[in-house]
Amino acid sequence: MPANNNSAEKKFAIVILAAGKGTRLKSKRAKVLHEIGGKPLLAHVIDAARVIVPVSQIYVIIGHQAAEVRAAVEKTGVNFVLQSEQRGTGHAIICAKNEVGSFDNVLVLSGDVPLIRSSTIARVRDFHLAKKAAMTILTAEPPDPFGYGRIIRTSSASENVKAIVEQKALSKNQQKTREINSGIYAFATSPLLSNIDRLSTDNAHHEFYLTDMAALLVKEKARVLAVKAEDSSEVLGANTLAELAQLDAQLRARKCNELMAAGVVIYRPETCVIDPDVEISADTVIEPCVQILGRTRIGSDCRIRSFSVISDSELGDRVMVKPGCIIDQSQVSSEAILGPYSHLRPGSEIGKGAHVGNFVETKKVRMGQGSKANHLTYLGDALIGAGVNVGAGTITCNYDGQHKHQTVIEDGSFIGSDSTLVAPVRIGKGAYVAAGSTVTSDVPEDALAIGRSTQVLKEGWARRRREARSKAKE
Ligand code: UD1
Ligand code: CA
Repeated sequence: MPANNNSAEKKFAIVILAAGKGTRLKSKRAKVLHEIGGKPLLAHVIDAARVIVPVSQIYVIIGHQAAEVRAAVEKTGVNFVLQSEQRGTGHAIICAKNEVGSFDNVLVLSGDVPLIRSSTIARVRDFHLAKKAAMTILTAEPPDPFGYGRIIRTSSASENVKAIVEQKALSKNQQKTREINSGIYAFATSPLLSNIDRLSTDNAHHEFYLTDMAALLVKEKARVLAVKAEDSSEVLGANTLAELAQLDAQLRARKCNELMAAGVVIYRPETCVIDPDVEISADTVIEPCVQILGRTRIGSDCRIRSFSVISDSELGDRVMVKPGCIIDQSQVSSEAILGPYSHLRPGSEIGKGAHVGNFVETKKVRMGQGSKANHLTYLGDALIGAGVNVGAGTITCNYDGQHKHQTVIEDGSFIGSDSTLVAPVRIGKGAYVAAGSTVTSDVPEDALAIGRSTQVLKEGWARRRREARSKAKE
């Protein structure tokens, strides 16, 4: 059922805070545009949010590098709110007052807390509604709470919160508190908006802290509650590049575990980099140090050997990818054998049972069933039929300095080693090209083309030369 059919969900807006610079990253790029799992941090948060509400109810607060951030996620269809001066997480919400005013509740997510699961957001929402809270804070107890705001409950057994205290403002006693603020909250809109202008900048960074809403609402006798995440790794933030690397590793581990649970064999999963949207069928084997990226789909019973990088490609069943292959935006049919060290560039379509071997580069090539190009070859802009043998060192000369031209090699033909096929050119069915030929005009079906100078034989030449030399020495 689409999310907007549920009346409880309809009353929620989701605000994603993504306007900050991320000073601690020491990077030119806005923090939320840094990537884990091959996608910007913000894109992960939007993916989780859009499971909860329709994208029309999602508001992303942008500010630092607003144009770039917007461009990176615009196609999701979310709304944007500009916070032109970044004066704190509370100020970000002040900027979105008009947008969220008509919703009963507001869920706030952080653009730099990317591992959050939609099921956890749903738990916060349901808890918040069930308890009729003014503010519900998602909390956690990670192994190292340093740097996070800490949750001060009214008593350890109570779900009621007194305040959130930022790291820099913690008293000696409060420093022992292990429970952190995830930066993810549910608010009832009306108490939120009627108190938001009361936030002050009386703190270490002279910013409006959204965290101060907790104490403000408590003062108003409103209910401020905490709900703890079961898995603390879900709410880890990325404030430094080291933390970002850890989040990336977590995401990769999650993906490998999902694949292994579905029957994919992964040796040394900690060395593999597999993007979240990759699909792999059961009984395929992934060897150590492999990267599988983007929207790649791999069938069953394949073997992806070490040091291969596969992006945005489709592989059928029982495909063998030997070590060191690079496969980009290509399609490989079942039972094909690639590598070692093959480079399939965009638009390569390798037919069933075809072989593309050592140091072979392909680009915009369709290669038919069972055809082979096993050694040291460049095939670009070529249509190759079935059962073709492309000899070692063959080159399609597809570029004349201005335009690209096509080479057609029809079924069952044989291209001798070290041939250069100067496009546009067609090699007919079952034809032969002699080794070392430069082919500049079409070769008819079943013909032999020899495009090289005829061999000259000089009988006894070498002997005569030796004899002449030894005479000269005497
Ligand atoms: C915040 C919380 C802290 C919590 C932590 C969890 C505050 C004051 N502190 O701290 O209690 O433990 O998150 O990760 O909220 N942003 C804006 N506009 C701004 C400032 C920030 O949109 O003016 C965005 C940032 O881009 C970021 C998010 O808000 O995505 C959080 O800001 P950040 O500066 O990272 O807050 P933390 O110091 O991590
Ligand atoms: Ca943060």
